[in-house]
Amino acid sequence: MKPSDYQDIYGYAESLDLLNERDCSNDLGTFIELVSTTVPNGASILDIGGGSGYILARILDSRQDLAATLLEPSEPMLERARTRAAGFAILEGSLQDQSDKLEQYDAIILCRALYAMSTGHQQRQATIRLISRKLKPYGRLFIHEPDALYDIASFETRMKHCLDMPPDAFQSLWQTVKPALERFNTGVRAGEFTLYDAQMLDQTLLPEGFTLLTRNGRSHVYRRTS
Ligand SMILES: C[S@@+](CC[C@H](N)C(=O)[O-])C[C@H]1O[C@@H](n2cnc3c(N)ncnc32)[C@H](O)[C@@H]1O
Repeated sequence: MKPSDYQDIYGYAESLDLLNERDCSNDLGTFIELVSTTVPNGASILDIGGGSGYILARILDSRQDLAATLLEPSEPMLERARTRAAGFAILEGSLQDQSDKLEQYDAIILCRALYAMSTGHQQRQATIRLISRKLKPYGRLFIHEPDALYDIASFETRMKHCLDMPPDAFQSLWQTVKPALERFNTGVRAGEFTLYDAQMLDQTLLPEGFTLLTRNGRSHVYRRTS
């Protein structure tokens, strides 16, 4: 797939960034903290489906020692990532298309990206095998994934409270967020997206030679065993 092919599906880069910047998801902060406090000093780190670069930039705020790379196929996301790319390299394209250009990294991040990257058992194992090959032996895999369908009404209430914007501004933002949430729910119901709860991740990763290091809610850290 070319970067432009991702444009329609993920045309919500701006809203996602706003929600990130306003810290509307508390457990995203937990994930960022987990990565920032456990990646070894001087490590190389790859953020697959890193979107607008917000998460990587937050990690680098406290970890300038890391050699960081963002991999992202969507042009609207890339446009935003380029504006905050001080401190990290950008690789444009999908994991599958760019795999030959990737080295091996000490740590890999998959934040709200794995769900969209493969459907069905075989494809899922192939994706995880590919990711595993891009990790150094004993390298760490940091995963943060949606594990349930969105309850759209309660998301709207939570967002209103969190963003505290004038009603008109909120309505115009909601017009872009709501279809993205509906698209996610429809994709899950159609089997196009995969929900990874703890059990699903263990079932997918442990047979591929990963051990679980730690887990906190929807944030999971695994290590390649060799
Ligand atoms: C929901 S966004 C999350 C972005 C960012 N990680 C975050 O949490 O803010 C999912 C991202 O995965 C990217 N993506 C989807 N399929 C991909 C693939 N095969 N390889 C790399 N990235 C992919 C999308 O373009 C999108 O930016």
